[in-house]
Amino acid sequence: MKPYVISNVGMTLDGKLSTVENDTRISGENDLKRVHQIRKDVDAIMVGIGTVLKDNPKLTIHKIPLENNKNPVRIVVDSNLRIPLDSRVLNEDAKTVIATTEYGSLEQSEKIKRIEKIKELESIENVEIIYSGNLKVDLELLMGKLSKMDIKSILLEGGGTLNWGMFEKNLVDEVRVYVAPKIFGGSNAPTYVDGDGFKTLEDCVNLELIDYYQMDEGIVLEYFIKKDNNQENQE
Ligand SMILES: NC(=O)c1ccc[n+]([C@@H]2O[C@H](COP(=O)([O-])OP(=O)(O)OC[C@H]3O[C@@H](n4cnc5c(N)ncnc54)[C@H](OP(=O)(O)O)[C@@H]3O)[C@@H](O)[C@H]2O)c1
Repeated sequence: MKPYVISNVGMTLDGKLSTVENDTRISGENDLKRVHQIRKDVDAIMVGIGTVLKDNPKLTIHKIPLENNKNPVRIVVDSNLRIPLDSRVLNEDAKTVIATTEYGSLEQSEKIKRIEKIKELESIENVEIIYSGNLKVDLELLMGKLSKMDIKSILLEGGGTLNWGMFEKNLVDEVRVYVAPKIFGGSNAPTYVDGDGFKTLEDCVNLELIDYYQMDEGIVLEYFIKKDNNQENQE
C-alpha cells in the first residue's frame, strides 16, 4: 500500500519553477487559494530539502479558513539532515516528519549530532525523524512507512529534483499544474521535473487530461497518471 500522491506546481510555459535567481513569483492569490484547498484535502504535504533551503516555506493552510485547526503533516525529504533548525517548516503549526537515511554521505558523528539537536525539538515541537534507505532517501520504502503512519494522501510540492525521484519510481497518481503565460528560460533554473530524465519514449510517464480551466491570466491543467505506461508507450 502507498499513499495517493498529487503532484502540484506553478510553472511558466517553459516549465520553470523559478528564475535562475530564485524569483518564484509565478501565480497569484487565486492560485495560492487553489493550492491551499488541495492541502486541506490531503493528509500530508511533501517537499525536498532543496525547496526548504531555497524558499523556507511554512507549508500550512493560511490562504483559506482552517476549520478544525488541523494542518496536514509536513514531510521533508532530507538524506543528510541539512534542514536548518530555524526552518519555518519546523514551527509548531503542524507535525513535521523528516525523512532521512540510515547513513548518507555525511560523517556519521556529524549526523548523530544533528539527530540529537532535532530530537531536542521533537519533544516540544512535534517533529519526527524516519529512516528510509542509505545514501539517498528510498522513496518507495518511504511511501510504505508513511502509509503505516495512516497517511493516505500526499500533496507533492516539489521541487524539480524530488519530483523526478517520485515520477521515476512511478509513485505519482495525479498531476495538477498552474501554467503562467511567462517564459523564464535558463538551463540552471529549476523545471517541473529535473533529475536524470527518462532515456526513451518507452520509459516516460503518460498522462490523461481530466480537466482544464482558466485562472486569472494562466491555465490550470489536471491529469491522471496512466499506470500501464509500458503498454501505452509501445502502441
Ligand atoms: N513553483 C512551484 O510550484 C515550486 C514548488 C516547489 C519548489 N519550487 C522551486 O524548486 C526549487 C527547489 O528544487 P530542487 O530541485 O533544488 O530541490 P527539491 O526537489 O526540493 O529537493 C531535492 C533534494 O531532495 C533530496 N532527496 C533525498 N532523496 C531524494 C530522492 N530519492 N530523490 C530526489 N531527491 C531526494 C536531495 O537532497 P539530499 O541528497 O541532501 O537529501 C535533493 O537534492 C526552488 O527554486 C523552489 O523555489 C517551486
